[in-house]
Amino acid sequence: MKGIVLAGGTGSRLWPVTKVVSKQLLPIYDKPMIYYPLSTLMLAGVQDILIITTPQDLDAFKVLLGDGSQLGISLSYVAQAKPEGLAQAFIIGEDFLNGDSCLMILGDNIFHGVGLGEELSKVLPENGAHIFTYEVADPSQYGILTLDQKGSPLSIEEKPTSSNSNLAITGLYFFDKDVAGIAKTVKPSKRGELEITAVINQYLQNGTLGVTQLSRGTAWLDTGNHNLMQDAAAYIRIIEERTGLKIACIEEVSYRNGWVSKVGLEALAKSHGPSSYGKYLQSLLSTKGE
Ligand code: DAU
Repeated sequence: MKGIVLAGGTGSRLWPVTKVVSKQLLPIYDKPMIYYPLSTLMLAGVQDILIITTPQDLDAFKVLLGDGSQLGISLSYVAQAKPEGLAQAFIIGEDFLNGDSCLMILGDNIFHGVGLGEELSKVLPENGAHIFTYEVADPSQYGILTLDQKGSPLSIEEKPTSSNSNLAITGLYFFDKDVAGIAKTVKPSKRGELEITAVINQYLQNGTLGVTQLSRGTAWLDTGNHNLMQDAAAYIRIIEERTGLKIACIEEVSYRNGWVSKVGLEALAKSHGPSSYGKYLQSLLSTKGE
């Protein structure tokens, strides 16, 4: 299974902050936003990952993350010329996917929960599609899933003006090898985008859509506006300070997955200089990796 982090878009809801910096490079407390979704894919065991971003931001992501070899993973990059919809990722990423299935995550989605990686590896199927839902207070901001009386998926709607369901479709999606072909059949919506919900709907019609409702112990944090970004940073800070453990520390995930040796981790710690992040990596050297 391959991975895609979709980290493009104009970030216009956060202007002027995102006029010259990609939204997904902004800090969420002590690390760039993209570390969170990237670590989610890594926790699910994905090692071959494509990062899609804007032509102007591509080089900055490469400087930050390189080819991934320092983390024992492979990172590839491709630009999305214009933000023409989430489903376009599968068309742009078709060569990278090369007929494999994929786990795609939006570059501004933050998931946190104990055992999340294990939960993901357990529920992901071989074929079809799988989505993860989360109860929200305001359904009009999200793709929304409605279930039938038996609890099976019935319909999907992008940002409904009114809905009886409050099950938001989070920005983490599994699709099988057919996804690029399906994405190519999607027509732009009224707002001119290739909607991911249209792709999910195809799998729903084929009877191959699986759904997992994220447990109450999992946090799904929004970074859609300035207040939500501050809230997400406060959440990360509180948990990290209380536990002494970092959330979404990609070097730690690699080390614990056995993808990076102690020697490799030491080099990573040194490369972070005297920062608190570097000191944290240093402190991991006295712990067991796998
Ligand atoms: O966060 C979950 C929600 O994400 C889902 O519930 C919705 O179904 C889904 O459409 C999406 O809604 P958003 O309103 O959050 O989508 P937005 O346009 O903000 O894009 C999400 C991220 O993807 C954002 O960081 C920018 C990036 N993006 C977006 C588009 C449209 C791209 O990289 N390329 C694009 O073409």
